[in-house]
Amino acid sequence: MPAPAQAQHEVEPHVQHRNRIPLASPIIDAEMKEAALAALENEKLVMGESVHKFEEEFARFCGTKYAVSTASGTAALSITLQALGISHGTEVVTTPFSFIATANAVLHAGAEPVFADVEDSGINLSPGKARARVGPKTRAIIPVHLYGHPSAMDEFLEISLETGLKLVEDACQAHGAEFGSKRVGSIGEAGCFSFYPAKNMTVGGDGGMITTNNAELAEAAGSIRDCGRDKNSKYYMGRIGYTSRLNSVNAAIGRVQLRRLHGWNEARRRLAALYRRHLEGVDGVVLPPSERQGEKPVYHLFVIRTRMREQVKKHLEKNGIETGVHYPVPIHLQTPYRQEYGYMEGAFPLSESLSNEVLSLPMYPTLQEDDVVRICNILKDSLKR
Ligand SMILES: Cc1ncc(COP(=O)(O)O)c(C=O)c1O
Repeated sequence: MPAPAQAQHEVEPHVQHRNRIPLASPIIDAEMKEAALAALENEKLVMGESVHKFEEEFARFCGTKYAVSTASGTAALSITLQALGISHGTEVVTTPFSFIATANAVLHAGAEPVFADVEDSGINLSPGKARARVGPKTRAIIPVHLYGHPSAMDEFLEISLETGLKLVEDACQAHGAEFGSKRVGSIGEAGCFSFYPAKNMTVGGDGGMITTNNAELAEAAGSIRDCGRDKNSKYYMGRIGYTSRLNSVNAAIGRVQLRRLHGWNEARRRLAALYRRHLEGVDGVVLPPSERQGEKPVYHLFVIRTRMREQVKKHLEKNGIETGVHYPVPIHLQTPYRQEYGYMEGAFPLSESLSNEVLSLPMYPTLQEDDVVRICNILKDSLKR
């Protein structure tokens, strides 16, 4: 019988990999399984105790007063915008070099995404280019902390102070990353996280979280993700909402994952330093952005740039090393965006050249150091071919 197709190419259970090195490897350990089972046996399956505890603990971890869980990172973004009153007839500025959900969430809220290109020698939305796209209909800016690298939040805060625009951090790839003395998700008006299995932490499936210090926003988001319910009422609805809650069993897993997150992030940072040491100065390879002072990235992905991507990728794969491309098409060139807005090649040249050159190397906390050395050696070998 043929092996069943793997539903999510990037995601594998935590197993002994022998000679094969996957791109990502989520960890579900015995304590998480026990927590899931306990939630199934003892809690309300929806909005049970684990959900409230996970929200409290996640808020504490990020340094915000509130956290509101959702069914996904996309829902977290879209619900945040809706809770801020952003809807039809308004615009939100963001980057075209992200997972498509960042811009889709703006459309889900009823607003229009307006793109600005990335920093000149970086991967994140350029504050200057974003400011240049602000117009009378703009209500918010969404900087994305791509691959776990914090955006230049000091500059975005300045723009926000000057213009009154809301800053919504897309922290879906950056759980625990720091900018200055703060964790991402606590710097703008709100932060949005994803718990999709390949992320720095998961809930054992899809899930999301909104973090904020704004009580009104937290209240509105909590209602919108829960069918529009008024607080503490079952059938009195103050808003048009969605069924977009995080299940109790997933929250129970998330609570255990959150306790491991710091250690996992430290492991990712150590592995990233090792990659850097072995790839520094290699002709044909551009390393991820160096860490600016006061910044602590969490390397959701370790992404190099190379013009010889296909050759390198093929050689690594031939040697049992899985790689990824995040993302081969920038959002503005994805079919629905081309169709709806008429975008063409050349609209955001820096994002487009990133899309042509980025290559994600294996990165997960249990990746062995000698595997990193092996990956780097095979990579260097591939460039000589
Ligand atoms: C930058 C970014 N934004 C938003 C999302 C959406 O999160 P989810 O897949 O949980 O809906 C993701 C997830 O891949 C992401 O990487």
